[in-house]
Amino acid sequence: MAIESSCDDTSAAVLCNDKVLSNVVANQGIHSAYGGVVPELASRAHQQNIIPVVQQAIQRANIDKNQLKAIAFTRGPGLMGSLLVGTSFAKSFAQGLNIPLIPVNHMQAHILAHFINDETQKKPPFPFICLTISGGHTQIVKIASYFDMEILGETLDDAAGEAFDKSAKILGLPYPGGPLIDQYAKLGNPNAYPFTKPRVGPLSFSFSGLKTGILRFIQKNVQQNPNFIKENRNDICASIQHTIVQILMDKLKNAVKQTDIKHIAIAGGVSANSEIRKVLTESQDKYGWTTYIPTFAYTTDNAAMIGITGYLSYIQNNYSEINNVATARLKVSE
Ligand code: KG4
Ligand code: ZN
Repeated sequence: MAIESSCDDTSAAVLCNDKVLSNVVANQGIHSAYGGVVPELASRAHQQNIIPVVQQAIQRANIDKNQLKAIAFTRGPGLMGSLLVGTSFAKSFAQGLNIPLIPVNHMQAHILAHFINDETQKKPPFPFICLTISGGHTQIVKIASYFDMEILGETLDDAAGEAFDKSAKILGLPYPGGPLIDQYAKLGNPNAYPFTKPRVGPLSFSFSGLKTGILRFIQKNVQQNPNFIKENRNDICASIQHTIVQILMDKLKNAVKQTDIKHIAIAGGVSANSEIRKVLTESQDKYGWTTYIPTFAYTTDNAAMIGITGYLSYIQNNYSEINNVATARLKVSE
């Protein structure tokens, strides 16, 4: 069984080796009114959700809890209060059942979700490059083996998910705005409004300047036409999305040039974005890359990815002591 509670989704999954038997995710709608995740509210909602979510995962997997062989849990990175709920639950459950406890690094898990045995996705060979794009992280990682990961480049400020969510907030859209921008962008012109791309190192990202640029652009236009957002929402969303995807692709191209590795994966919540999925698929013919796009259910936070990482640890006899603690800051290489 795997437990994930690092941010605002409470999730539990049951796996049999590398196959997912159930993967239950409870989203916390409460944050939408605040334009972002409110940590204290997230911890409280995890407390309410954890037992029903675990019960449902066991029920849907059609097993008895006494059949469980180990408990994997997200140790970090994430919000401390949120992590504590999952960590404490996992420890108690493992102790109650007298089975091993496996700590999992959430960022490794996003990447290792590619190794879930599921006919809708293919497993990348080592070494491969992964662009991990989520609400809290944006990294280019070189994966030499399951637990040998090296960050080649990352964001200097905001994450790609934040770039989506903060742009959405400027447009008056609720949190999380990423999926909404994706939805409206499908109906708009991606070249309607050019936004300036940041000038940083070849494998570094920066999204805070783009956010300020979008804010100024919107303020200027709304001053001239109060209905500017309403009348041009689809074009604005398509242009923002296009700029973010172009930035991500530019960096991936630099990573391929630097490493000569052409097996390219994406992971994390933003990898659910339809344009990055499309552009990456096209890059197979365009640049000769082989690309690995995770099944939709394993992109945003979910416990199945914690489960596969736990399984890969388990078969290497990598268990945890019961005194293992939640760690808010944890690098993908740790
Ligand atoms: O990986 P994730 O679920 O949580 C973190 O670990 O941060 O990522 C959440 C992020 C949010 O910023 C959300 O807006 C973004 O993923 N996201 C998307 C899409 N679906 C989720 N961004 C763009 N397009 C999407 N379709
Ligand atoms: Zn995540």
